[in-house]
This record gives sequence, structure tokens and C-alpha cells, in this order.
Amino acid sequence: MVGALAHVLPEGAGERRGHLIIGGCDVVELADEFGTPLVIFDERQIRDRARRYRTALEQHAPGGTVIYASKAYSGLTALRLLHEEGVEVDVASGGELFAALQAGFPPERIHMHGNNKDAREISEALDAGVGTIVIDGAQEIDLVDGIAAELGVRQRVMLRLTPGVDPNTHHAIATGQVDSKFGFPLRDGIAERAVAAVRAAPNLELIGVDAHLGSQLLDLSVFAPAARVLADFVASVGGDDLTHLDIGGGLGIAYTRGDRPPSIEEFCRTVATAVGEAWAEKGMATPRLHIEPGRSMVGRAGVTLYRVGGVKEIPGVRTYVSVDGGMSDQMRPMLYGAVYEPLIANRVTAPHTDTVRLVGKHCESGDVLVADAMLADPRVGDLVCLPATGAYGVAMANNYNGQPRPAVVMVQDGAARLVTRRETYEDLISREIPVA
Ligand code: LLP
Repeated sequence: MVGALAHVLPEGAGERRGHLIIGGCDVVELADEFGTPLVIFDERQIRDRARRYRTALEQHAPGGTVIYASKAYSGLTALRLLHEEGVEVDVASGGELFAALQAGFPPERIHMHGNNKDAREISEALDAGVGTIVIDGAQEIDLVDGIAAELGVRQRVMLRLTPGVDPNTHHAIATGQVDSKFGFPLRDGIAERAVAAVRAAPNLELIGVDAHLGSQLLDLSVFAPAARVLADFVASVGGDDLTHLDIGGGLGIAYTRGDRPPSIEEFCRTVATAVGEAWAEKGMATPRLHIEPGRSMVGRAGVTLYRVGGVKEIPGVRTYVSVDGGMSDQMRPMLYGAVYEPLIANRVTAPHTDTVRLVGKHCESGDVLVADAMLADPRVGDLVCLPATGAYGVAMANNYNGQPRPAVVMVQDGAARLVTRRETYEDLISREIPVA
């Protein structure tokens, strides 16, 4: 089973005595030591992805910047690793900004996004001295300018645009289309007026435009038309100030054995070529390219380990296999219909030929992790591993049904270290005002 899922599991995942091995660690032992549900990150895999992104971007877009979209997973240890690997970071809220600063990112290497940043978040960002603020709506122009004036700074900003392209992904994670809550649409002079307003704002320095097209993209053909639309716009508003282009993130990863996402290298080459050609067609110098990968940086590096608590066979209907997590730690199947391929981590060499419904422990019939999971004779006490859960798993975890959020460990060379402790019951009520 490990072989069949080789490109879904962290690289180097293997098997020893029938147990799944990640980063040299036996995950059965990790479950015994740290409990379940447990999120396991392969540290080397995160570093490797960051290096590949930096090398490929430098090759195809010299002087470009790799910016990790921390919404995918913002654990401090992962952020620190990524900082050590020389990538910059994108934060989408005051909370993510706080985490990035705590992890040790120099403020100038932090870039702030968000379609509704409030005055407090903007003040925090400007006060810290972030590199760029990506202005996402008309209301933000005066707000950021005013706060910059109060703080006596001139803030570098980009304008987020919606180029009006369809990125061919789930509608909830498509963002490049005109009908979007994000950014300025390129019609009716809306984006032109935003450029003029930012240029007129005394405390803002416009450095370029930004467009994130969508997430979990398995087909990169959308970048060429998007780049042409953006180049057209930049040419039409003229000026030497628009020297940077942030083309967002979006590279998809494999969740099942059939998925064949483009490589990091292909992504960087495709995006850089699309931008270079589109800018050249307009007779403009190639802009400094920013990319913002989230999922493809950490998604494959992480797996989630659950313990089976119940196996219920309904003859002629189906078998339900219940694990000790579910929609509190993994929302993607419920939100986007995402499909995962689990495996029995303590019997990986056994044939995974039983079709079962893998469900969580929450009080909802919709708490289905994998509708038609192929498992090897699942039994109570088995460990089920859900691969490729490093991105948007813990990041979107919640406490539904009073479920404490999982612990997170990093593994490398046979050693494991706890990086996030499991939530406790006390944590769950820690914000409550005592009743007596
Ligand atoms: N930049 C911006 C402005 C974004 O909005 C996003 C993702 C990214 C970069 C990173 O995109 P990535 O490389 O991870 O595709 N919760 C959803 C994904 C939401 C993505 C939101 N924005 C999921 O689990 O599929």
C-alpha cells in the first residue's frame, strides 16, 4: 500500500514489520507515545519543498520571491523552518501576523493579505514594519494611508486584482474570476481608480499588482491568459512604479494515487514564462515575480493518524469504520468534497481491498472522512493514516463536540519532537468566564 501511495505520502515513507514509517519513525510508536489523532510532519519534506521553490524560481524568474502562504499551516516550528530556508511569508490576518513574528520572521519579509483587514490588524502590520500590504478593497486605501500617516511611515503596497479567468478548481477555492469577494475587478474603471487613489495617497508606495487565481490547481494553463490580462492592465495604467507582480499560489498536490499535479519546477517555469511573455508583448520589462505557495509547501509533508474505535457492519448496506477525529481536524471532505486515500498504518502490507466508509466521531451524518475507503480488514484498535493532510488540516481545525485539537509532531531521521501539544479539556473552557 505504501508503494501505491508513494507520491501521496511524504517522500521516503516506507514500511517496517508492516508498520508505516515516516521520517524514519514508526508511526505506531508515535501513536503510542503522543496519542491520536496525531498530525505528523516530515521536517525534511518541508525544507526540501522550500529549497526546490527557491531554486526553481531563481532559475526562471531571477530576483523573484517565494512567499509561503501561512494559512495552509501556521505552526511556529514549520514557520521557523521555512524562515531558515529563506522563504518569506504571507499572512492573512492579525493572528497569522502574530505567529509569523513569534516564529522569528523579520517583519520586512512578511506580506499581509486579507479582504477585510480591520484598523487594528493594519496598525499591527504597519507598526511591526511588514514588507507589503496587499490592498484588497477600496475601503483599505484611505485606511492604510491614514494609519501610515499616524505612524509616520510610507508603506509599500500592492493592489489585488481579479483578472477574470476561471482557474478550473472547486468553486469555494477559485478566486481569479470577476464575481469574487477578493480584489478589484478589471472592469468599469474600478481597478484604474484604485491605482490612481493609491498613487495619490501620500503615505503609500505602490509597487505592483497581485492576483491569486485559485487553489489546488492541477492544470496550469490558466496562468498564460491571466498574465496577459494583468500585463494589459499594467500597460494601460502606465507608470514605472508597477515593478512587482504577485501571481499568488495555487499549485495542487496529489491526494489520491490518480492525481498527477505539476511539479514545483513546472509551476515556476510556467508562471515565469507566462509573465515574461505577457510583459514582453507589451514592451515592458519583466516584473519582479512573487509567488505564494501554501498547500504545495506543506501538504504532502503531513499525515493524520487516527485510532479506530468502532467497526459497524450493516449486511447488504455497508461497513462504517469510526475513528477518533473527523470534521474537527479535517474539514476538507465536508467543505470541498475532497477525496483522500487512507491506509491502515499498523498493517500497511496487508491487501487494502475492503470498501468501507471512514467516519469521524462527531454528531453528524456528514462527518465522513472518506466515503469509499479501501482498507485492509479494519478492526478496533487499528491506526488509520490519512496522507496529504499537512495543508488546511490543523489550520482549519475546530472544537466541534468539545473535541480537543490534535497534537502535532515533526519527524526526521528517526527522531520525533512534539511541536504542538494536544489541546486539553481545560483549554476548551479557558476563555469562559467562570460560572460560580
Ligand atoms: N495567496 C493567496 C492570496 C491565497 O488566498 C491563497 C490561498 C494562497 C496564496 C495559497 O494558495 P495555495 O498555494 O495553498 O493553493 N482551505 C482550502 C484552500 C483555501 C485557499 C485560500 N487561499 C482548501 O483546503 O483547499
